[in-house]
Amino acid sequence: MSRAKVVFLGAPGTGKGTQAKKLSAKYGLPHISTGDILRNAVKMGTDLGMKAKSIMDRGELVPDEVILGIIKNRLAKPDCKKGFLLDGFPRTLAQAEGFDRLDSVNCAIQIDVPSDVLVKRLVLRRTCSSCGAMYHLEYHPPRVEGVCDICGAALVQREDDSESVVKSRFRVYVEKTEPLIGYYRQKGVLYNVDGNQDIETVFSEIVQIIEAAGEVNDEG
Ligand code: AP5
Ligand code: MG
Ligand code: ZN
Repeated sequence: MSRAKVVFLGAPGTGKGTQAKKLSAKYGLPHISTGDILRNAVKMGTDLGMKAKSIMDRGELVPDEVILGIIKNRLAKPDCKKGFLLDGFPRTLAQAEGFDRLDSVNCAIQIDVPSDVLVKRLVLRRTCSSCGAMYHLEYHPPRVEGVCDICGAALVQREDDSESVVKSRFRVYVEKTEPLIGYYRQKGVLYNVDGNQDIETVFSEIVQIIEAAGEVNDEG
């Protein structure tokens, strides 16, 4: 059986994490978010977390060799044998080339959303401090204000979701990550999705792409 090896490309707030979580539940594939791994390291106060925190708070990128080390460890785990969903990685050409020496991608999904829509998505985003579930104060509010529907823990705002840091994250995306669209197009694995539609519509388009591109088995 071929493996579904998916990369999500898209500016901050396009819905990479939202869609990867849903796909992970549907196909039983591991959702690997370098942002989540780094935020977890910050929370645990590890060496990695202490180095990464100030970089992330400014909206800049953690060094490529650090990220490639994280990915190499993660891909070596047995759950990656049947495929993976990469969210927020690769983010630079050097990361994409480094990854190609470890493994390959059969589906790069680029999610497009106009930037004015993205600012609003990010500044009103809230995340569960315990289970990581994602909310949006306007588009996807929790049933009880400030409380996770799933586990009851408190909802928090990400440090880098202030309007000024969001602007630098966009700048970094255009400069460092957008060139990867051409990189994957050249490899013949690029697919484009209009992310400015409701979450379920975007999801069903992504499912169609992945099912047409490779063999995946629905676990849900
Ligand atoms: P990372 O965590 O990867 O953040 P990001 O790329 O900026 O993307 P986001 O997580 O903000 O957005 P998303 O696309 O996942 O959107 P979401 O689904 O949450 O990286 C953070 C930092 O870590 C970086 O700045 C960097 O410092 C460091 N880092 C991470 N990876 C790195 C790497 N590889 N190399 C170097 N440094 C790295 O959706 C956003 C909001 O919109 C939510 O509220 C959601 O509910 C809502 N929403 C989603 N879809 C829809 C929809 N269709 N309609 C309406 N609302 C929607
Ligand atoms: Mg995310
Ligand atoms: Zn929760």
